[in-house]
Amino acid sequence: MTILVTGGAGFIGSHFILDWLLETGEPVINLDALTYAGNLENLAVLQGNALYDFVCGDIQDRRLVDRLLVEHAPRAIVHFAAESHVDRSINRPQDFIQTNIVGTYTLLEAARSYWSKLQYGARSRFRFLQVSTDEVYGSLGAADPAFSEASLYQPNSPYSASKAAADHLVRAWHHTYGLPVLTTNCSNNYGPRQFPEKLIPLIIANAMDRKPLPIYGDGMNVRDWLHVGDHCMALRIVLERGIAGQMYNIGGNSEMTNLAVVHNICELLDEMRPHADGPYSNLITFVQDRAGHDRRYAIDARKIGRDLGWQPTETFSSGMRKTLLWYLDHQEWVSDVKTGAYQQWTIRNSEARA
Ligand code: NAD
Ligand code: TYD
Repeated sequence: MTILVTGGAGFIGSHFILDWLLETGEPVINLDALTYAGNLENLAVLQGNALYDFVCGDIQDRRLVDRLLVEHAPRAIVHFAAESHVDRSINRPQDFIQTNIVGTYTLLEAARSYWSKLQYGARSRFRFLQVSTDEVYGSLGAADPAFSEASLYQPNSPYSASKAAADHLVRAWHHTYGLPVLTTNCSNNYGPRQFPEKLIPLIIANAMDRKPLPIYGDGMNVRDWLHVGDHCMALRIVLERGIAGQMYNIGGNSEMTNLAVVHNICELLDEMRPHADGPYSNLITFVQDRAGHDRRYAIDARKIGRDLGWQPTETFSSGMRKTLLWYLDHQEWVSDVKTGAYQQWTIRNSEARA
């Protein structure tokens, strides 16, 4: 029983594929357009693995998606492919509208057509899993309760608005056509192999280079942090046991201000790689705030715990220590990403595979 993963060359998708193959041994087709965020080196260990197939392509290519569905007859689509960086969405929203909204629409239509022709058993087992974010719920005040599945969608950035639009399409395709969908809304992920434009890998990379550690605004914006491995486990469980048509919030019970996150990284680095010039926190620099910067996200993940038995296994402190050790041991990965060398690798690799 194959699954089709979209965006599997990105940060979370690549962790999901590695975890999936290890835990289930079920074949995976990875459809990824290899944008700047797609990195086949993340999956280099799978070269030659008969259970894994990579297809370079865009989720907006209906013909290609139709062909993959017919050829591989997947029992599920796990949809990660997206433009995912808020700052990029502010600078250039267009790609977010295309991939996150039009791309999801294209996938839903292809899935609906494929699913409607399945035999009864396969039809009732099929699932479309929409991997979404807590950012669709908007911003919380300091004393507000955490986002639950009943919270209103109030997205504030072009990124979160495009993900919210996609989630609404997914919901409508269930309500109107009966497509068996699942939606997960997860908080900020961190872990190995995250593209160094997001806060945690950027801070680690800059600290290693003794560059300024940029904090937007006053640094008191709050995020909930979840180790990527715990997110992948939650997605596997939702796919296995989730009820079609339901939403599941996923979070790490680790609300922290950005300043606290950066200080935490600095303290760990002081311990692991002390520097003669003094503590890493000396590099902290306050910079201009992000436009429309959401103040606080927090996730109430009680539903997935109660109904499906999922709990995170890492605390922020245990997950961050492991993550930092990974980055310290893989400086080459970071410099390849920063110089764009991995994209050369990616092109060479996909040419070789074609
Ligand atoms: P990422 O930016 O690292 O990876 C996105 C992947 O999608 C890349 O491999 C890219 O090449 C691919 N892609 C982009 N446009 C495509 C297209 N048109 N067709 C095919 N492939 C395309 O993102 P990520 O951090 O791994 O996030 C994955 C998903 O999880 C996204 O949907 C995101 O909204 C969601 N999410 C992320 C976080 C987080 O903290 N990173 C938290 C919650 C939810
Ligand atoms: P980011 O990793 O971009 O995730 P998101 O915007 O999806 O939450 O940013 C996390 C938080 O860190 C967010 O409040 C913005 C802030 N931030 C900085 O303070 N400095 C930075 O250089 C970056 C990239 C983010």
